[in-house]
Amino acid sequence: MKGLTFFFTPFSLMFLYLLCISLTTETEAGVYIVYMGSASSAANAYRAQILINTMFKRRGNDIVHTYKHGFTGFAARLTAEEATVIAKKPGVVSVFPDPNYQLHTTHSWDFLKYQEAVKIDSGPPSSAASGGSYDSIIGILDTGIWPEAESFNDKDMGPIPSRWKGTCMEAKDFNSSNCNRKIIGARFYKNPDDDSEYFTTRDVIGHGSHVSSTAAGSAVENASYYGVASGTAKGGSSNARIAMYKVCNPGGCTGSSILAAFDDAIADGVDVLSLSLGAPSYARIELNTDPIAIGAFHAMEQGIVVVCSAGNDGPDVGTVTNTAPWIMTVAANTIDRDLESDVVLGGNKVIKGEGIHFGNASKSPVYPLIHAKSAKNADASERAARTCESGSLDQDKVKGKIVLCENVDGSYYASNAKEEVKSKGGIGCIFVDDISRAVASVYGAFPTTVIDSKEAAEIFSYLNSTKDPVATILPTVTVEKFTPAPSVAYFSSRGPSSLTRSILKPDITAPGVAILAAWTGKDSSISLEGKPPSQFNVISGTSMAAPHVTAVASLIKSQHPTWGPSAIRSAIMTTATQTNNDKGLITTETGAAATPYDAGAGELSTTASMQPGLVYETTATDYLTFLCYYGYNITTIKTISKAVPENFTCPADSKLDLISTINYPSISISGFKGNENKTVSRTVTNVGGDGVAVYTVSVETPPGFNIIVTPEKLQFTKDGEKLTYQVIVSSAASLKQDVFGALTWSNAKYKVRSPIVISSESSSKN
Ligand SMILES: *[C@@H]1O[C@H](CO)[C@@H](O)[C@H](O)[C@H]1NC(C)=O
Ligand SMILES: *[C@@H]1O[C@H](CO)[C@@H](O)[C@H](O)[C@H]1NC(C)=O
Ligand SMILES: *[C@@H]1O[C@H](CO)[C@@H](O)[C@H](O)[C@H]1NC(C)=O
Ligand SMILES: *[C@@H]1O[C@H](CO)[C@@H](O)[C@H](O)[C@H]1NC(C)=O
Ligand SMILES: *[C@@H]1O[C@H](CO)[C@@H](O)[C@H](O)[C@H]1NC(C)=O
Ligand SMILES: *[C@@H]1O[C@H](CO)[C@@H](O)[C@H](O)[C@H]1NC(C)=O
Ligand SMILES: *[C@@H]1O[C@H](CO)[C@@H](O)[C@H](O)[C@H]1NC(C)=O
Repeated sequence: MKGLTFFFTPFSLMFLYLLCISLTTETEAGVYIVYMGSASSAANAYRAQILINTMFKRRGNDIVHTYKHGFTGFAARLTAEEATVIAKKPGVVSVFPDPNYQLHTTHSWDFLKYQEAVKIDSGPPSSAASGGSYDSIIGILDTGIWPEAESFNDKDMGPIPSRWKGTCMEAKDFNSSNCNRKIIGARFYKNPDDDSEYFTTRDVIGHGSHVSSTAAGSAVENASYYGVASGTAKGGSSNARIAMYKVCNPGGCTGSSILAAFDDAIADGVDVLSLSLGAPSYARIELNTDPIAIGAFHAMEQGIVVVCSAGNDGPDVGTVTNTAPWIMTVAANTIDRDLESDVVLGGNKVIKGEGIHFGNASKSPVYPLIHAKSAKNADASERAARTCESGSLDQDKVKGKIVLCENVDGSYYASNAKEEVKSKGGIGCIFVDDISRAVASVYGAFPTTVIDSKEAAEIFSYLNSTKDPVATILPTVTVEKFTPAPSVAYFSSRGPSSLTRSILKPDITAPGVAILAAWTGKDSSISLEGKPPSQFNVISGTSMAAPHVTAVASLIKSQHPTWGPSAIRSAIMTTATQTNNDKGLITTETGAAATPYDAGAGELSTTASMQPGLVYETTATDYLTFLCYYGYNITTIKTISKAVPENFTCPADSKLDLISTINYPSISISGFKGNENKTVSRTVTNVGGDGVAVYTVSVETPPGFNIIVTPEKLQFTKDGEKLTYQVIVSSAASLKQDVFGALTWSNAKYKVRSPIVISSESSSKN
């Protein structure tokens, strides 16, 4: 498994541990989810009730959740034997141990306490985008919300939409007075093993408040993290309402709670659901045992857009999660703001560094500089000392100096190195790490900065050539209009999807690096000594990217209330941009051009997505056909889906590679052997508003390939009209590696672009 090196970081070990206890305890009693398909069938509900009555009549406490609004099923404490018995009962689609999912911040739960600060900002969409008439409601599955945060004030907001059926659950520290016209819903879910202190929607972590304010926070002037990243903090869809479904606590997010939240959100009447969490990429979870895929399917059937983070297991390929075709999967990129803290060497040479700290070291290079290797404690290994691992440095050698530490094997953090240098009386810490150089983290009051290895070479050569080397670390400055941006963040999980290569994932990329947004009001771990806790924090992850897309989806819904989830996704994908602010192509952390496996359709556009011209609608029948191709039989499909047309049957030759033919806004052709032609068709719907519209196609063809689109012109005579075209891909040679292209339908007003991926590997299932 290629990803292993990255997984064996301290926090990933915790993931692994959690996964082991939560996914592999088949022989012991534990919580299992019993999934029984759609809620519209009275038969399903009856079967569920019979199961519960017969098995749990005398064990009422063993039922953890029941699902009955959006779909049918329950979560219960079972032995493995009972689970096996239940799995064979009529109407049961799947029975699986309750998994534990994780938030998609770049640092894990137990690492969060070291993460000292960050700010939410979400380049608010243009005013043109805000004039929608429909009041959209965003449901967020996360760690809860801090209702007193300024971002959640409901100034100037109209009455709560009458269609809203949700509630504001009471808890000792969260009651109905904490909901308002901004936060219109608050529910929490009792995880089976939780302490009662978590029986509240109040956010004790910060992540849920951060995500909520990015998606729909009211404008807050002069927001900053102690002056860093300052500006007006405003959610992307600042008129939208927020409903918080608290499914996560410091122990993780259980699948049974995630399903309960989907069940409620569907009944409550949300328009968009946002999830910044998921399974670790190596778990390779099947569709019918993934609570997010299951819940999202039923949400999609009710017309709800579901947006999920892609995961932070990049840059290894094949790490993207939350890849069901009815989910919008979001990668993360940098923005044009850099939080810089530079190093100055003797002779006033400046080395650029990255990091958020509030140290007040002298602006002149007056502090002795030492390589950590030379400050080794007698007992420590050279490797440990170079990394500045805890206990590896000698106090006498470090005292009063700036120490140069290196992330030797890629598994250490600047914040831990900083602690070692600080505890040994050092003045500052310079950490060499190519990967975290790109993502500013918060280091509190101790001067700390991260540089890359190229920058480090200059310092090493200075150290070698100087008898008494000196340096200083400058305070953090916020650099605006930083270029090139956006760039795909190193941590952002990459395609192809392990579910199927025939659907391109991720779908889109959005800002997710050093994002400033609301936080809990009481987190002393992000406070500066002697100052009140910051109301804002700056953090990174695909967790932060997903709510940007959620915001845009909610704005599109406001403008086009009748559009279904697939039309909204299409609008977002086909209007994405591929260029950066240097007029070059968007790159990755390596500087290479980003492929659709890195960035999906490209960078989220907050304006063009409101008026896409044409949309690719993926119908309910398309998704049923997907389930056929994926391997489900008609009996199972009829159990899962709420409304399978009477005349629906699975195509005779249902096979995985045919998933490419589903009407998706991107085109991913798998199992391409070369020396052959493959044809897929797509259907577009005219939503341009001008009635008559003519589009012509242009194709970006990968070298050695021939792509023919017929017809080359689409002539619409009215709005709402659907036209179909064929894409014939051929190549004389065999395919050595996956290749990328695109096709764009355009006229004077609109550009509708779809990325194309051609892969020789077949559309494998896990
Ligand atoms: C709700 O909480 C507020 C603040 O904690 C408190 O003042 C108020 O009395 C509570 N209201 C109810 C109905 O419990
Ligand atoms: C924001 O800060 C500026 C400059 O410090 C100040 O003039 C202004 O009044 C502040 N605005 C608010 C709303 O606090
Ligand atoms: C910053 O300056 C204050 C006084 O000017 C001093 O007490 C404090 O120790 C300094 N902090 C650092 C990190 O140097
Ligand atoms: C600095 O000197 C060490 C040996 O003292 C050597 O290994 C290293 O390559 C030198 N680095 C530079 C940048 O000159
Ligand atoms: C459909 O698939 C399920 C699950 O794999 C299986 O139990 C059932 O027998 C199948 N039904 C038919 C009609 O093939
Ligand atoms: C099923 O019936 C509907 C109308 O009842 C029709 O529009 C549709 O084309 C039919 N589908 C198939 C696969 O026959
Ligand atoms: C593929 O299509 C091209 C262009 O339509 C045609 O010239 C060629 O003969 C086809 N090749 C195969 C193997 O069908």
